[in-house]
Amino acid sequence: MVVDNKVTEFNLRKKMKHLSGKCIVITGASSGIGKEVLDRLCDPAKKNRILACSRTIEKLTGYDKNVTLFNCDVSTKEGVDQMMEKAEQVLGTIDVLIANAGAPYYEKFDYVNWERIQNIFNLNTISPIYTYTKYLKHLNGREGHMVFTISAMGEMAIPGYTLYAATKFAMKGFQEAVRLEAPKNLKLTAVYPVSTATNFFKVGAGEIDVGHPFPIQKADVVAERMIDGIEKAKKHIYPCRVFKPSKLLMNTIPPIKSVYWGIEKKRLKRFLEKKAALDLKLAEKIKV
Ligand SMILES: NC(=O)c1ccc[n+]([C@@H]2O[C@H](COP(=O)([O-])OP(=O)(O)OC[C@H]3O[C@@H](n4cnc5c(N)ncnc54)[C@H](OP(=O)(O)O)[C@@H]3O)[C@@H](O)[C@H]2O)c1
Repeated sequence: MVVDNKVTEFNLRKKMKHLSGKCIVITGASSGIGKEVLDRLCDPAKKNRILACSRTIEKLTGYDKNVTLFNCDVSTKEGVDQMMEKAEQVLGTIDVLIANAGAPYYEKFDYVNWERIQNIFNLNTISPIYTYTKYLKHLNGREGHMVFTISAMGEMAIPGYTLYAATKFAMKGFQEAVRLEAPKNLKLTAVYPVSTATNFFKVGAGEIDVGHPFPIQKADVVAERMIDGIEKAKKHIYPCRVFKPSKLLMNTIPPIKSVYWGIEKKRLKRFLEKKAALDLKLAEKIKV
């Protein structure tokens, strides 16, 4: 089920008139939602200057010189430090910082592995929180705007995404608490996309395709609604308009949620069966 996918040139121009002449940092800019946001903000006519970051950002081509591509791994302290240093070098002041990089695991959470747990928290939770602290210091009282790409799964968990949901629930809690004590010069926006057609599901599940939770949106629609919300300095952006009413309905009539979760449990079961079959095949290949 694909919802709300009307992106028109008219809407785009109408909505982008304020987010211009800004110095912007965006993480996770090499694909998916981040790249769609980058593509909308980089129009030279907007006079934005942008530092676009990811680990493989050099694969992007064709941008004007108002966009600086910067390779870094933001799941490490060093990566975030380098990104902030580079931003200060090429942009000076950062008006808007969009902490968008993130990734899921799709799995049954039934193992003992400290590093695996730590890795997903490093990227999805510790990195944006640490980036926030660096950004606050960078601003030193100047006006700024920090945006966190969280997830609808930061409000409602789904089978197969236990650790991912935990990282995003943590971000939901972080933004809620920190805005109670954040200084007035800093605007904060949290974004809660539902399933979005990006590399996300491939990153989570590898080559095994068992579909995705519904509904699903296109990344350009999510990006457009994100930009619209950032321009309006919204505290919370829900790119999918049916998410909040659906959540309310599910909380009011719990059997609906049980049915939804039932569908997702079956999806996870299919995934695990396919994975077991693949692992077996691989083991047999190694034996030969
Ligand atoms: N797609 C969905 O269904 C969905 C739904 C809700 C929320 N979200 C959130 O939306 C955000 C963007 O995801 P997406 O859907 O656009 O997925 P995507 O297409 O896989 O994009 C993820 C981006 O993050 C970057 N990234 C991953 N690990 C990184 C690292 N260690 N250091 C620096 N950059 C890193 C990736 O680039 P490199 O690989 O080049 O580093 C890529 O640019 C994430 O925070 C995700 O949790 C996605």
